[in-house]
Amino acid sequence: MLQRTRNEKGKTILVAGGAGFVGSHLCDALLARGDRVICVDSYITGSKDNVRPLRNHPRFRLIEKDICDLAEVDETLDQIYNLACAASPPQYQADPVHTMMTCVAGTGNLLSLAERHAASFLQASTSEVYGDPIEHPQREDYRGNVSCIGPRACYDEGKRAAETLCFDMLRTGKVDARVARIFNTYGPRMQPNDGRIISNLLVQAIQGRPLTIYGTGKQTRSFCFVSDLVAGLIALMDVDPNPEAPVNLGNPGEFTINELAEMVLAMVPTASKAVRKPLPQDDPQRRRPDISRAKELLKWEPKVPLSEGLRHTADWFTAALGDGKALRRRSRVRRPISSSEISVGA
Ligand SMILES: NC(=O)c1ccc[n+]([C@@H]2O[C@H](COP(=O)([O-])OP(=O)(O)OC[C@H]3O[C@@H](n4cnc5c(N)ncnc54)[C@H](O)[C@@H]3O)[C@@H](O)[C@H]2O)c1
Repeated sequence: MLQRTRNEKGKTILVAGGAGFVGSHLCDALLARGDRVICVDSYITGSKDNVRPLRNHPRFRLIEKDICDLAEVDETLDQIYNLACAASPPQYQADPVHTMMTCVAGTGNLLSLAERHAASFLQASTSEVYGDPIEHPQREDYRGNVSCIGPRACYDEGKRAAETLCFDMLRTGKVDARVARIFNTYGPRMQPNDGRIISNLLVQAIQGRPLTIYGTGKQTRSFCFVSDLVAGLIALMDVDPNPEAPVNLGNPGEFTINELAEMVLAMVPTASKAVRKPLPQDDPQRRRPDISRAKELLKWEPKVPLSEGLRHTADWFTAALGDGKALRRRSRVRRPISSSEISVGA
């Protein structure tokens, strides 16, 4: 039996993947504006540490559950954000079948939940749906260049299938579903060993190790600070009417990996030089969002420059790496990541 616990002031919102990097910042922002937040997470790549400060918050509840097994929750929901999915290549490739099932069966379960609760639904999709793009910058109407059999396919194709489910539920009038295509995002609470380019470089510099550059380092990425992304996700969930189309959320500033490494070295001086390694298979060469749609429909654009966001993130990693216990707790990848697996995608 569902309990009606509608919050007088705010909404009741389920955040799947709320103990992850982005999800925990989203939980913070929703609580700060007065909502009630139910965080569902299996901790497969996230960490209880990310939501530990919220443990005793009167409007926060934590449910440990895999979304592939989630049938119902005992409170009436107004909104569901689905951020549950491993996001870095070593993590989503550690158990590719589970990654695909999370995207398809897990998203299907959450959409059914949204239908039963008449809740709005936001899917955290990804720029990886564009694969190794032939069009640049990437607009939402570009259909992408994705391998359906490569090592990244469990994530790229899983996220594409999840988008299909969302738009089928929307078209058939079952769920008010929205889809955010998120480009590389960074900030405090990334895992130091998650294999993403910003965490790799910052952690290596802070530890005085050589910075690893894959390929020529001329491949590009666009980096969005996490507070900007969270503002975009909330704007997309709340905008009326539903855009009924995917919306890119990212920072259109485009940097080569070499430029990023130089910024890191200027910020965290280290005696170590860069070492070069071969580019992983299917690694995209260029990434930059066209955010015209988000600007027009959501009146949203990122505010935090890379230099400022990197500084916050470097400070956070410096503190986290100083606390070895906290670091070990955060490192919940199913198997150790070897350096050859680390890639620049996210
Ligand atoms: N951070 C980025 O740059 C980026 C870019 C594009 C898309 N995204 C998307 O945003 C979302 C959040 O990414 P993140 O960077 O915070 O990653 P993250 O790994 O830190 O967070 C994902 C969270 O989902 C949880 N999770 C994974 N599979 C689950 C399952 N089956 N059931 C329940 N919980 C599960 C993890 O434990 C973790 O807490 C992901 O869906 C990701 O695909 C992120």
